[in-house]
Amino acid sequence: MMLFLSLISLLAAVVPALAQGDLTAAHNTSGLEGTWSTGSRNVVTGSGFANPKNRTFTYPKTTGMSFSFTDTGFFEVARYRFTGNGTDPHCITGVMNWSHGKYVLVDNGSMILHPFGDGFQQIQDPCAAESNFIEDYNNTELYVQWRVFEDLIDGPKLHLFQFDGAPLPPQFQVSTTPNMLPTQPLRNVTTAASLTAQNLIATNAGERVWSSVEIVSLVTSLATVGIATLLL
Ligand SMILES: *[C@@H]1O[C@H](CO)[C@@H](O)[C@H](O)[C@H]1NC(C)=O
Ligand SMILES: *[C@@H]1O[C@H](CO)[C@@H](O)[C@H](O)[C@H]1NC(C)=O
Ligand SMILES: *[C@@H]1O[C@H](CO)[C@@H](O)[C@H](O)[C@H]1NC(C)=O
Ligand SMILES: *[C@@H]1O[C@H](CO)[C@@H](O)[C@H](O)[C@H]1NC(C)=O
Ligand SMILES: *[C@@H]1O[C@H](CO)[C@@H](O)[C@H](O)[C@H]1NC(C)=O
Ligand SMILES: *[C@@H]1O[C@H](CO)[C@@H](O)[C@H](O)[C@H]1NC(C)=O
Ligand SMILES: *[C@@H]1O[C@H](CO)[C@@H](O)[C@H](O)[C@H]1NC(C)=O
Repeated sequence: MMLFLSLISLLAAVVPALAQGDLTAAHNTSGLEGTWSTGSRNVVTGSGFANPKNRTFTYPKTTGMSFSFTDTGFFEVARYRFTGNGTDPHCITGVMNWSHGKYVLVDNGSMILHPFGDGFQQIQDPCAAESNFIEDYNNTELYVQWRVFEDLIDGPKLHLFQFDGAPLPPQFQVSTTPNMLPTQPLRNVTTAASLTAQNLIATNAGERVWSSVEIVSLVTSLATVGIATLLL
């Protein structure tokens, strides 16, 4: 908690100091180009993660997240995570989350991601009434700060701070050439509804996709992959 608070106050102190168009090493836009990934680097954007045409995912070996940026203003993000349940250890929620689109670097040091609208996510919750569903994901995302640091051992490291100032886990550069799906809408989306994280589950009930075969296999893979991931 202390660390979290001090990060926020550090951030608050840093923000006014960032001049317009700051291109120092930490804010180096050419250094942003490429593909970045957390931890074990098993989650990587591009063709190995999401298949937008049929809204399916290829499951990475472990959880994590990955961002890619081109120097022409395009981004892609891939996320895979589990959330445990303190009350019931069997109730682990798994989320696969993908989108791509255009990013903007604001002069105040923030980064804003504007998705094309063809993003989607899969939520698996074995304890919920609907244990597995896939839905569109089209949230605009604000990162109040971004920085690239040179780590002596791991090389360039990308730090992103969420809308509330909370830091994301650092991401390592897995390639300087971005590994991305084509930077254009990759499927036709019929719904125009734009959802926020808060009302996502409540408003999206009608869009949930059901298939009993999928549910059985995904809950099984959730159970096995989930336990393996949590042990790491
Ligand atoms: C910005 O990043 C590029 C690519 O990594 C590097 O060649 C360049 O020296 C960096 N510039 C600064 C000011 O750090
Ligand atoms: C979805 O598309 C991917 C890539 O084209 C393909 O490998 C996969 O088999 C498809 N999955 C389903 C369930 O159709
Ligand atoms: C934890 O699981 C119970 C059911 O066992 C459920 O009622 C509760 O909402 C879950 N909590 C979270 C945070 O998912
Ligand atoms: C920077 O500007 C954007 C766009 O106006 C805004 O949404 C964001 O909150 C600002 N960031 C900070 C750190 O004030
Ligand atoms: C969207 O639908 C139109 C008309 O059916 C088709 O021509 C186009 O290729 C589709 N776009 C994608 C990205 O699938
Ligand atoms: C995605 O969100 C943007 C911004 O809110 C909106 O303009 C666009 O229509 C949305 N696209 C879809 C397919 O919902
Ligand atoms: C997908 O990722 C975004 C960004 O972290 C988050 O706001 C959203 O809630 C995630 N989806 C789910 C179902 O957790």
